[in-house]
Amino acid sequence: MNIKFNVLLINGPNLNLLGNREINIYGNISLTELIKKLKKKSKQNNINLFDFQSNSESKLINKIHESKNIKIDYIIINPAAFTHTSIALRDALLAVNIPFIEVHISNIYSRETFRSNSWFSDISQGTITGLGIDCYFWALKTISNRLKNISK
Ligand code: DQA
Repeated sequence: MNIKFNVLLINGPNLNLLGNREINIYGNISLTELIKKLKKKSKQNNINLFDFQSNSESKLINKIHESKNIKIDYIIINPAAFTHTSIALRDALLAVNIPFIEVHISNIYSRETFRSNSWFSDISQGTITGLGIDCYFWALKTISNRLKNISK
């Protein structure tokens, strides 16, 4: 059966600067290039990948609320600095009750101690951190496997 799944990719603050920002930590690929590659991979796996980046907490929350209406099956989220601060974003994810995977390009446990706290990890399906941009591809792969199993 050729069922399509909807996945929403959410990137938080400063990730629009990917490729220019602290290249030694976050690498030199831009967000636009990364999304292009992820969309290609998604297409090969029967996934419609929607993407959203914002530097604004309220816009990110509104997008998560919207996910319910546009029938998103899964969310991949890099909450960026909001990982360590935003109970409001956490509550939004709990409210919509859509399964999600948390990703981080850098290893949040091997940097400043304040980065070791995530308001998302305990409510996520899983957290992938420190594998560079591969984190996004692993998240996509996991979702693809899970959704395929559900549709069997
Ligand atoms: C990040 C890690 C966060 O601590 C940081 O604030 C970011 C990016 C990562 O992808 O490694 O902006 O989420």
